[in-house]
Amino acid sequence: MQFHILTLFPEMVENGLQTSILGRAIQKGLIGIHAVNIRDYTQDKHNKVDDYPYGGGAGMLMQAQPVYDAWKAVAKPAEGKKPVRVLFMSPQGKTFSQEMARELAQEEELIFLCGHYEGIDERVIEEIVTDPVSIGDYVLTGGELPAMVMIDAISRMVPGVLKNEDSGVTESFQENLLEYPQYTRPEVWEGKKVPDILLSGDHARIDKWRLEKSEERTKARRPDLYEKYDLPGRALEYLLK
Ligand code: ADE
Repeated sequence: MQFHILTLFPEMVENGLQTSILGRAIQKGLIGIHAVNIRDYTQDKHNKVDDYPYGGGAGMLMQAQPVYDAWKAVAKPAEGKKPVRVLFMSPQGKTFSQEMARELAQEEELIFLCGHYEGIDERVIEEIVTDPVSIGDYVLTGGELPAMVMIDAISRMVPGVLKNEDSGVTESFQENLLEYPQYTRPEVWEGKKVPDILLSGDHARIDKWRLEKSEERTKARRPDLYEKYDLPGRALEYLLK
C-alpha cells in the first residue's frame, strides 16, 4: 500500500511514521510513505504558496496552483486503472471510522491532501478531492496529524503489518466492541490480584470471560457502539468455534 501525502511539512509525516509497527512495515515493503512538499511546486519567485482570501477575512489560504501541480506529480493512474482516491483532511469531511480504515486498506495507493493556514482555495478541492475526511469534531492546525492517524489505522488493516495473532484483518466482528481488561506480571500488584480465570489455563472459559468483559465495558462506556454491535454475528461466531 502506497501512501502519498501532499503537505507543506513533509518531515512531520516522514519522521512521525518511521517507528515501531509502521517502521517495520515500511522496512518490509508492506507500506510506503511518500511525502510531497507542495512548496516544491510553487511558481512564485519567493516560494509563496498562500495568499489573502477574496472577500476579506482572517488568515491566509493555500493557493490552487501548487496544490494542483503537486497532485499531478503523483496522480498518474496506471494504464487501465482507476484514478487514485484523494482524501482531503478537513473537519467538514465524513468522520473517520474503523469501517472506513478497512475499506481504504483495499486500495493500492491513496493520496492525502493536508491543508494549513485557514484552508485551501475551493476550486482545487472541487477539482481533485474524492473523499473529504474528518478525524473528529475538533479543529486542528493542519491536516498532517489527521493523515498520520488515518495512515496508522489503515496500515493495521494491510495483511502482514500486524503479527498474525492480533491481525486487524480478522477482527471484524469485534468492530463495535471495546477491548477487555488485560494483565501482566506480577500476579499481585499493590494488593490487586489478577482475575483467577486468567491463570486457569482453560482457554475456552478465558475467551468467554473476555468477550463478556468486552460487552460489559462497551455497554457501560460506549452505549452508542453497543447498539451497533453485531449480536447475531457474535452468536454465530461463538457457535462455529
Ligand atoms: N484539519 C483540521 N482539523 C481536522 C480534523 N478534525 N479532521 C481532519 N482534518 C482536520
